[in-house]
Amino acid sequence: MTGMVAQRVESLASSGMKHIPKEYVRPQEELDNIGNVFEEEKKEGPQVPTIDLAEIDSPSEVVRGKCRENLKKAAEEWGVMNLVNHGIPEDLLNRLRKAGETFFSLPIEEKENYANDQASGKIQGYGSKLANNASGQLEWEDYFFHLVYPEEKRDLSIWPTKPSDYTEATSEYARRLRKLATKILEALSVGLGLEGGRLEKEVGGMEELLLQLKINYYPICPQPELALGVEAHTDISSLTFLLHNMVPGLQLFYEGKWITAKCVPNSILMHIGDTIEILSNGKYKSILHRGLVNKEKVRISWAVFCEPPKEKIILQPLPELVTEKDPARFPPRTFAQHIHHKLFRKDEESLPK
Ligand SMILES: [Fe+2]
Repeated sequence: MTGMVAQRVESLASSGMKHIPKEYVRPQEELDNIGNVFEEEKKEGPQVPTIDLAEIDSPSEVVRGKCRENLKKAAEEWGVMNLVNHGIPEDLLNRLRKAGETFFSLPIEEKENYANDQASGKIQGYGSKLANNASGQLEWEDYFFHLVYPEEKRDLSIWPTKPSDYTEATSEYARRLRKLATKILEALSVGLGLEGGRLEKEVGGMEELLLQLKINYYPICPQPELALGVEAHTDISSLTFLLHNMVPGLQLFYEGKWITAKCVPNSILMHIGDTIEILSNGKYKSILHRGLVNKEKVRISWAVFCEPPKEKIILQPLPELVTEKDPARFPPRTFAQHIHHKLFRKDEESLPK
């Protein structure tokens, strides 16, 4: 037998099955709080903050300062926010979405030509989750994953060739996002009382910070109240930028409850990831989140993870932010060690008690 072949969730969804396989059914304690996402989206209560970036580059220090202050507060309180007036043209966002949607509308057999091979370390390409622990738990999604920036680190040979606009639209989006990341990191640095370029430098700068695109494809699910598109996690990245096709699904764990993010037109949702949480010594939050699925509409999201290099940088609270009263809350770890630590902890938790 060769390597394990992942089950495509899209093929399950299109098979007409009424009951999802048991690997996709969440454990009982999770089932208690999974609801209908369209109902959940309508609920009142705390909302993901929306941050207007129109003035982030204002020549007026006061005007610019106000914008940065709002961003800082959202990063401290929520660690997630909807960015509006972010400067990335709507037309480009639509091209990016169209390109991804067109690729996923291809027959599965055609997409399989792009399949990744996780067992052999080939992680870029078309994929689905492989069961990685004894429970065999799976998620209701397929995805396409590849590096998009810096451009010389891309492997264009594995990028979709259909539609023909895929490479150009995706590359232009990555270039724009990279610039936006610099601006955000600058505002977050100033918010910590640091020099403007500090966080950018700490996460690897233009040469080493890696932007990885994951297009998440969540097919219609016959039993959405039993499954999750993505299980609860915090992002390991420095920042994550997320676009979607206006179908709700994202939930944030805020003040002890799951809050469903409302769809905000033309916004880009941004997460503060673990990397920034660690560097800021916990001042900025990496929020727990997950994805619901539904039985009416396919949800697609485009996540770009801005990740520091795996080994070159030791992540730890910046010394300026560590005092006797506020000691370091995180031990020094490389990004690779941080990933390993999280996986290991997860395995421990999933052992029978
Ligand atoms: Fe995430």
